[in-house]
Amino acid sequence: MSEEGGVSLKENLLTYYDKLQCDPCCNSLLKQNFTKDVIEEIGNKVTNSGCTLSDCIKSGVENPDSSTGIYAADAESYTLFAPLFRPIIEKYHGSIKHPFVDFGNPETINFANLDPTGEYIISTRIRVGRNVEGYPFTATISRDQQEALETKIKEALTHFDGDLEGTYCPLPGMDDPTRDQLVEDHFLFQQGDRFLQSAGGYRNWPHGRGIFFNKTKTFLIWINEEDHLRIISMEQGANFDSVYKRLMRGIKILEQHVSFYRDDELGYLTFCPTNLGTTIRASVHIKIPKLSSQPNFKEFCLGLNLQVRGTHGEHTDTKGGVYDVSNKRRMGLTEIEVIREMYNGITQIIEKEKSL
Ligand code: ADP
Ligand code: ARG
Repeated sequence: MSEEGGVSLKENLLTYYDKLQCDPCCNSLLKQNFTKDVIEEIGNKVTNSGCTLSDCIKSGVENPDSSTGIYAADAESYTLFAPLFRPIIEKYHGSIKHPFVDFGNPETINFANLDPTGEYIISTRIRVGRNVEGYPFTATISRDQQEALETKIKEALTHFDGDLEGTYCPLPGMDDPTRDQLVEDHFLFQQGDRFLQSAGGYRNWPHGRGIFFNKTKTFLIWINEEDHLRIISMEQGANFDSVYKRLMRGIKILEQHVSFYRDDELGYLTFCPTNLGTTIRASVHIKIPKLSSQPNFKEFCLGLNLQVRGTHGEHTDTKGGVYDVSNKRRMGLTEIEVIREMYNGITQIIEKEKSL
């Protein structure tokens, strides 16, 4: 990078800095940590695949209502731009140091059904994000690479058998009613997230994207959405045990055929730093009309390290006192610890609802 190029990179970042600081409505982690010192220290840097700090923070600048406001344009961004990423990661997850993978022993894990009468929990879902080694992240992956990645994953999918065996449905060519029904039933992603849009997440849409699911739609894989892969286990009701163990089996098979980006310190690398570490989001759709009508509902959940979303996913509204409640922390604790934290938190939410 020439000095001239370096100066213009920094100038551009200073414009971003002013925009964030002048916006009284912006309170993102990006705004809090993107200082002039950071610009001075890393503003000139460019990763080997050509990504700059501007590429990483564009979404947070264009969307001042972001809560985090930053994405890793490529895997190297996490190290090259560490002076900005690290404090944000630490603040979000409460930790910057991630332990070794530990899903626990499926022989001894035994989660009791949290809601045997079906009064509160409608459905349970656990997902992880994975990115495939050697391929750029969503913001920078080319059309050809998206296609090559899709082909590689399709081959890996042929190794599922028994209850995990299923069908791959590419997004291009899928008819509208089929797609709409899959979205409505909470199985499929869609193109409506302006944060992801600004970060470059919808380039070449819908090329190279698709969904795999087994016959009962309890084991699903999204290809080339926010991360290269989202591996999902879900079912109606509150049987955490079967949802978690099915996910473990699915991940184990995929790992035999595909290598994923993982960092000793940060865990599995994801496009968005909120997903680093275990990358697990374990959620329930839960009916809690009394608790959710209390003014401190979201704070109560946050106190249990739980996050609240609408039932059509992130940044959506909800109806009838039904919410998507999931773990907030994905880093600094193992996979089984994340699930336990979430399970214990949901137990307390149900207790609280009963007490009101
Ligand atoms: P992600 O979980 O992959 O980060 P979203 O929050 O956008 O992304 O959710 C993706 C989809 O998963 C949405 O359609 C959402 O309704 C669905 N979903 C999430 N949790 C559950 C659940 N517990 N039961 C049923 N569907 C769920
Ligand atoms: N970038 C958005 C924000 O900062 C979303 C962050 C988390 N969500 C995600 N899908 N990665 O609010």
